[in-house]
Amino acid sequence: MGLQGSVAIVTGAAIGIGFAAAERLAERGARVVIADRSGAEEAASRLAARDLQVTGVALDVSSPEQVSAAVQATESRHGRIDVLVNNAGIYSTLEPKPFEQLTPQEWRQVFDVNVIGVFLMCQAVLPAFQRAGGGRIVNISSGVAFKGNPWMAHYVASKGAVISLTRALATELGRYQILVNSVAPGFTLSDGVHRNPTLVEGVREPSMRNRVLARDMTPADLVGAIEFFADAQSAFITGQTLVVDGGAYF
Ligand code: NAI
Repeated sequence: MGLQGSVAIVTGAAIGIGFAAAERLAERGARVVIADRSGAEEAASRLAARDLQVTGVALDVSSPEQVSAAVQATESRHGRIDVLVNNAGIYSTLEPKPFEQLTPQEWRQVFDVNVIGVFLMCQAVLPAFQRAGGGRIVNISSGVAFKGNPWMAHYVASKGAVISLTRALATELGRYQILVNSVAPGFTLSDGVHRNPTLVEGVREPSMRNRVLARDMTPADLVGAIEFFADAQSAFITGQTLVVDGGAYF
């Protein structure tokens, strides 16, 4: 099935990469639900004002109850669910820390959202996907899962888990025509990153220097890959992770 008339949930889409993805899917004719801990309704209204079919729902992806309620409400409202983009993640608000100073609580906080959030969302949409005869899951991981990154061990490990979960689910859910793929972005000037001056000052320039395409990367650079994995064009691709980073050297 193509995106026209499909129903897509994009988590963490009030701002940043998720918002850009929601906008692109809606422009391609999908009915999109922006699911976010904060600002979902406002973000949806901005796109709905452009005659795009977008609604918002407040949810914390790490809460099983909220995830289940939001997914059920989406299926009741639209009659089906076809696409899930697991984009919600904690990154720009994390304080970089040497490995020896990281606490179990900090690990749990990151894994609760970045990994358990993905697990809960995938599990919750499964019955709706089965009823619809298939579905697409696009997980947003990160290039750092391949390269590593100092002072971010918990974040790096969480994104590695997302890539492994993508493979695991692809092997398990293919028999239901559910395709599971991942997009691994390089350092992206998202809204969250813009709000963290340390990241902008410390990471922007070096990451640009380390790219074949030596310019800033923005959410607009990612939406094509996300759309591809949500759309009919990728109908025989599953379990893959596509790195979108402008050709980072390391
Ligand atoms: P952002 O910080 O601009 O936006 C994140 C959104 O997720 C916010 O709207 C926030 O409210 C929402 N969110 C956070 N925790 C949530 C929760 N528990 N439940 C529901 N919503 C929640 O983020 P950005 O930069 O657009 O990143 C999006 C995804 O891309 C994240 O998974 C991030 O790890 C990943 N990524 C980002 C990169 C970057 O350089 N910006 C690079 C590689 C991956």
